[in-house]
Amino acid sequence: MSRYSRIIGTGSHLPPNRVSNAQLAAQLARDGVETSDTWIVERTGIRFRHFADPATSSVDLGEQAARHALDAAGLTPADVDLIIVATSTPDMIFPSNAALIQGRLGVPGGAAFDVQAVCAGFVYALAVADQFVRGGMARHALVIGTEVFSRILDFKDRTTCVLFGDGAGAVVLAASEEPGLLASALHADGRKAGILCTPGRVSGGEVAGHPYLKMDGQAVFKQAVHVLEDVAREVLTKSGRTPQDIDWMVPHQANIRIMLHTAKKLGLPAEKVVQTVAEHGNTSAASIPLALDVAVRAGSIQRGDTLLLEAVGGGLTWGAALLDY
Ligand code: UT7
Repeated sequence: MSRYSRIIGTGSHLPPNRVSNAQLAAQLARDGVETSDTWIVERTGIRFRHFADPATSSVDLGEQAARHALDAAGLTPADVDLIIVATSTPDMIFPSNAALIQGRLGVPGGAAFDVQAVCAGFVYALAVADQFVRGGMARHALVIGTEVFSRILDFKDRTTCVLFGDGAGAVVLAASEEPGLLASALHADGRKAGILCTPGRVSGGEVAGHPYLKMDGQAVFKQAVHVLEDVAREVLTKSGRTPQDIDWMVPHQANIRIMLHTAKKLGLPAEKVVQTVAEHGNTSAASIPLALDVAVRAGSIQRGDTLLLEAVGGGLTWGAALLDY
């Protein structure tokens, strides 16, 4: 009998401070940084983002998302034997956000670690958790994407600070005889690390380097439209499916133009693309599980639907997963 991993619950959490483009533009204007609602909407599709207050961390957001996912799955923290957190904005250098969230949930014993693949982090974490569950190393895995990207934004750099937001999403993966995750594919090209990075570190008690996000947006855009179609076709081929089998595409929510371009290349109408970028902005590793949870709770995604998840991020990293929900 084959063993698969299957999503049995989803959850998400957003910090309450919802900031519109107009509010952000007014705030930036006070520091002489010029932007507009029109530019942001036309170039990205973003209308709002949520920002965490200074006292709220990515562990706080991730814990809430995890609890909602466990409730949806009908499980308690005691059922979880693996926690993987995808984040680039962890609370500490160590221990991992996964260990900290496990501590909050109060159930020691299972494995807990973070995955760092920036905006592709959730797809990476899901693929790793799937290997654990399929291989018999875990029965119930919590896979969480959680970010406070506002902490690494340079609010004097209009080319990046209008794009990102904070939030968290989570899924519970359970061992199952029915699929489940059908195929995943992960890739990286470290030669392109410089086009999207936060090149700071802590050294001798000081922050060294540049602790803010830097991005060559056009270079990332060009890579994204190229690799996302390829990796989507890769998981379709691996699982013996075609684009026509996809009920919903749940892409990383960075830019509506990239999302719809990839859908078009695959022959998918915009109506089959889960779109939350307008409400959340780019929440990096949190964006896919957040979008998934919104679509599940809205009743758009139904049991039995085939989902394509795909993302590209700093590294450069990219990946996709195809699954029967
Ligand atoms: O999540 C990880 C993956 N990340 C992504 O997928 C992001 C990929 N990149 C993008 O989504 C797009 O490249 C951006 C949204 C970042 C930028 O859009 P673009 O269409 O590539 O714009 P651009 O960089 O070519 O800039 C066009 C103009 C420039 O002015 P000039 O040189 O034409 O006079 C910029 O200076 O827009 C200007 N600009 C702005 N204007 C108003 C850049 N940022 C802003 C801004 N407000 N916030």
